[in-house]
Amino acid sequence: MNSKRDSACLALIRQARAIVDADGIGEAALDKIKALLVKLAGKPLFPRTDFAMPDAQARNHVLALEDGDGMGLYLTISLPGKEAAPHDHGIWCVNAAISGREAHRFYRRTDDGSREGFATVEQIGQVMVAPGQGMAMTDHAIHATEVIGDEPAIGLALYGYALVRFPSVVWFHPEFSSVRVGASRRAEAA
Ligand SMILES: [Fe+2]
Repeated sequence: MNSKRDSACLALIRQARAIVDADGIGEAALDKIKALLVKLAGKPLFPRTDFAMPDAQARNHVLALEDGDGMGLYLTISLPGKEAAPHDHGIWCVNAAISGREAHRFYRRTDDGSREGFATVEQIGQVMVAPGQGMAMTDHAIHATEVIGDEPAIGLALYGYALVRFPSVVWFHPEFSSVRVGASRRAEAA
């Protein structure tokens, strides 16, 4: 337990809720939340020794959860070399780095979705999430991630829903022009 950290994380969720209620969940609102999350990630509230490392790949630690079917704030740790193929969470997400570097590539879908299992995507942007930097993606934005360098990428991640109540994640595999829809956790957690 770290009461200073807990209250800072709960305050972040309250501020994010106020922004979403006032401005919605478009890019402008998420950019405001990103600025707050970058500021929080820069505070000395997240010493490495308080958070167990992943056994492999990555792990999340819950920092704060909003009541009801609300937002979830996590500390995420991704080990060097961890990559994720392009995917769409179905819900908005804001990240801010504490340490390490993670490249985020953004894509847009270019087919019309009419062929089962088929999808094409093209890259439309890239952001390096490193200390002092964050990224925000709207509900159906598509991103791919890659930890850069030999340090773990440690950061804060705020999602529109808690991870235990996550909608289905859609995975794209550009080299095969394929798409795979993961299971939703919304029904089972309802
Ligand atoms: Fe993601």
